[in-house]
Amino acid sequence: MTAASPSTPAEIAELLAFYASAGVDDALEDAPINRFAEAAAKSAERRPAPAAPPRDARPESRPASGQVPERPQASVPATPSSGLDARNIPDAPARIPAATVPDEAQALLARQLAASASTLEELRQHMAGFDGCNLKFTAKNLVFADGNPNADLMLVGEAPGRDEDLEGLPFVGRSGRLLDRMLAAIGLDRNSAYIANVIPWRPPGNRTPTPHETEICRPFIERQIELVNPKVLINLGGPSAKTLLNTTEGILRLRGNWRVHTTASGIAIPAMPTLHPAYLLRTPAHKKLAWRDFLEVKAKLKGLA
Ligand code: URA
Repeated sequence: MTAASPSTPAEIAELLAFYASAGVDDALEDAPINRFAEAAAKSAERRPAPAAPPRDARPESRPASGQVPERPQASVPATPSSGLDARNIPDAPARIPAATVPDEAQALLARQLAASASTLEELRQHMAGFDGCNLKFTAKNLVFADGNPNADLMLVGEAPGRDEDLEGLPFVGRSGRLLDRMLAAIGLDRNSAYIANVIPWRPPGNRTPTPHETEICRPFIERQIELVNPKVLINLGGPSAKTLLNTTEGILRLRGNWRVHTTASGIAIPAMPTLHPAYLLRTPAHKKLAWRDFLEVKAKLKGLA
């Protein structure tokens, strides 16, 4: 038996509503599209064509059997908004394949771009122009931050979800609404706290970011923390805690205990790892643990005032 395809606008709307309620929020083509190849091709188009090498210097058109042809290298794309690119950075790797799976060269470039940002706006521009993390090519928006950059408290989550990707702001979906209530419970809101994520681009289908993607993005969030220089940091969930507190311990062991996040310039920021709001939505019995952690933070902020 085959289901009839929807044909009227009302039927199509009904089917889409069904998909959305079932959690299907990504529209994919029937055939896969290699976005990395597209981005690399665009980047190659922007480069001037190299002068043809002398005939005897040209490689054979086909590699000898058993030899792997060398991968073409694309230069690092410039960040148009800032005018900064790898060529302006001392010791930057000269040629980095653009928009490929993250590798050490891209991580190095991310570290150099992050370190060269002297304001949050510069950092945002560098991140917007950075093509070294594959997540950027499936995300709709860069999710940089929300809240008050002069706040005493900074909270860092894992990565944006669908709602955050659509709005370009962190924690605006269901877990964001719970986070707002948790902040309100200690007398804070988005005017008195600053919120960001370890990963600023939504992983497709909300999958867990890979360790490579996390390493690529780590310098940006570390610099963001350094520039905000909050009095207290809250790590929302295990990935944020593990990445920023350099630990492999699980969040249920970590939470509730003060740790320290040390910035590149050596500033030690007290950090409270706690349970992620999305986890609390699934495990409401643990809300009381997060509540205790937030009370700890409130007391710490009072003590530091
Ligand atoms: N979960 C996160 O970790 N960050 C967001 O911004 C939203 C959900």
